[in-house]
Amino acid sequence: MLKDQDRIFTNIYGMKDRSLAGAKARGHWDGTAKIIKNGRDWIIDQMKASGLRGRGGAGFPTGLKWSFMPKETDGRPAYLVINADESEPGTCKDREIMRHDPHTLIEGALIASFAIGANNAYIYIRGEFIREREALQAAIDECYADGLLGKNACKSGWDFDLYLHHGAGAYICGEETALLESLEGKKGMPRMKPPFPAGAGLYGCPTTVNNVESIAVAPTILRRGPEWFSSFGRPNNAGTKLFAMSGHVNTPCVFEEEMSLPMRELIEKHGGGIRGGWDNLKAIIPGGASCPVLPKEMCEDAIMDFDWMRENRSSMGTACMIVMDNDTDVIKAIWRLSKFFKHESCGQCTPCREGTGWMARVMDRLVRGEAEIEEIDMLFDVTKQVEGHTICALGDAAAWPIQGLIRHFREEIEDRIKANKTGRMGAMAAE
Ligand SMILES: Cc1cc2nc3c(=O)[nH]c(=O)nc-3n(C[C@H](O)[C@H](O)[C@H](O)COP(=O)(O)O)c2cc1C
Ligand code: SF4
Repeated sequence: MLKDQDRIFTNIYGMKDRSLAGAKARGHWDGTAKIIKNGRDWIIDQMKASGLRGRGGAGFPTGLKWSFMPKETDGRPAYLVINADESEPGTCKDREIMRHDPHTLIEGALIASFAIGANNAYIYIRGEFIREREALQAAIDECYADGLLGKNACKSGWDFDLYLHHGAGAYICGEETALLESLEGKKGMPRMKPPFPAGAGLYGCPTTVNNVESIAVAPTILRRGPEWFSSFGRPNNAGTKLFAMSGHVNTPCVFEEEMSLPMRELIEKHGGGIRGGWDNLKAIIPGGASCPVLPKEMCEDAIMDFDWMRENRSSMGTACMIVMDNDTDVIKAIWRLSKFFKHESCGQCTPCREGTGWMARVMDRLVRGEAEIEEIDMLFDVTKQVEGHTICALGDAAAWPIQGLIRHFREEIEDRIKANKTGRMGAMAAE
C-alpha cells in the first residue's frame, strides 16, 4: 500500500486547508522557479524518464506529447489546454483534485506551459462542476495576488496567464478536438486528425491537451525525480495514480495508490470489500463506461494497469471502477451505457450516429429477451462496423461495452431470450 510520504495528492479528501498557504505548507509550490530555470528540454526529458502516461484514458506518454510542440515559434502562440471535462459515467477523480487540491493543478499548468512554450493555458471544466469551478477560480486568484501567475510568474522569468473556461455539459466536449472547438465558441464536434493539436490546435496554433491529473502530478515528479515515480508500478505502467470505486463495494471511494496492484487487493483494502463478500461479485467495469466489462473470474487475477487490461481485451481508462454484485442485471447495466452513448453522439459520422442508435435499440430488446439468438452475433458484428470507423473514439466507446457483454455474458443473454420465448420471464425475475 502506498505510504503517506509518497502521495502526490495531500488533500484529496478536503480535510486540510486547500488555500495557497495550506498547499505551500504541504510542499506544493516549492522550488517551482528553480524547476523552470532548468529549461524546457530538461523538464521534458525528466517527464519522459518518469514513464508517466496520460491519465485521461488513452495512456499516451506525457513527456513525449510535450516534445511534439515546436521548439521555435513561427509567430503563432502556443497553448496548453487542460481537459477537466470528466463526463464519462463512473469517472470521478479530477473533480477531487480541483475542489480539494487545486494548487497541484495550477503549479503543474505553469510548469507544463513553460515546457511546451505556452504563455497561456486554459482549463476547460465540465459544465456541472459549479463548486469545483469556484474552488479553482479562488485558487487562481490567490496565485495572481501572490505573483505565482501573471508576468514573470513565480519569479521564473516566464509570463503566464491561466484561464478557467466553463463547458455546457456535453460528454463529447471531453474529446480533445471537440473541446478545442467548444473553447473557440463553436459546437463541440470532433475534428479530423491529422492535423494533430501540436501542429494546429486552438485557433489553429500549436496546442497540447492534457488531462487534469496528468498535469497535476508533474510538479511532484520533477521535485522528487523520475526514478521515484517510476519505482511504482510495472515497467510501462509507472507511477502512483488516482483510482476510484463506485457501485457495490462497502465503501465507495477515490484514493491514490501505486499502479499495477491486483484489482482484488484494491477492492478489499480501499473499498471495504464487495457488498455481501467477494463471492457475491458479478462483474467490474475497470475504468469508466467505455471499458469492456470483466466477469468475476477475470477480476480474481486482474492487475490494475494499462498493459494487463489491454492484454485481456479491456482497458484501464480512467481507473474508476464500477463494481456490480450478483443483484445486478448486467444486460440492463450495459443497455444504460448504450443509451448514454447514443444520446452523446455528436452525429457527424454515419457509423456512430446510426450505429449507436441501432445498438441501443437492440440492447433495449435484449434486456427484455425480445430477440432472436442470431441477433447476438449481428449486434457484435455491428459493434465491429462502428469500432475504428469514426472520426473520434466515441464510436469505440459505444462499441466496447457491448463487445465485453457478449464475450463474457452471452449465456445470460441467451437464457433471457429463451425465457421470453417460453414465457418464463417472471420466473427469471424471481430467481
Ligand atoms: C468521447 C470522449 C470523451 C473524453 N472525455 C475526456 C475527459 O472528460 N477528460 C479527459 O481528460 N480526457 C477525455 N477524453 C480523452 C481526450 O480526448 C484526450 O485523450 C485526453 O484529454 C488527453 O490527455 P492525457 O494525454 O493527459 O491523458 C475523451 C475522449 C473521448 C473520445
Ligand atoms: S464518432 Fe460519434 S461523437 Fe465522434 S465525431 Fe463521429 S459522430 Fe461525433
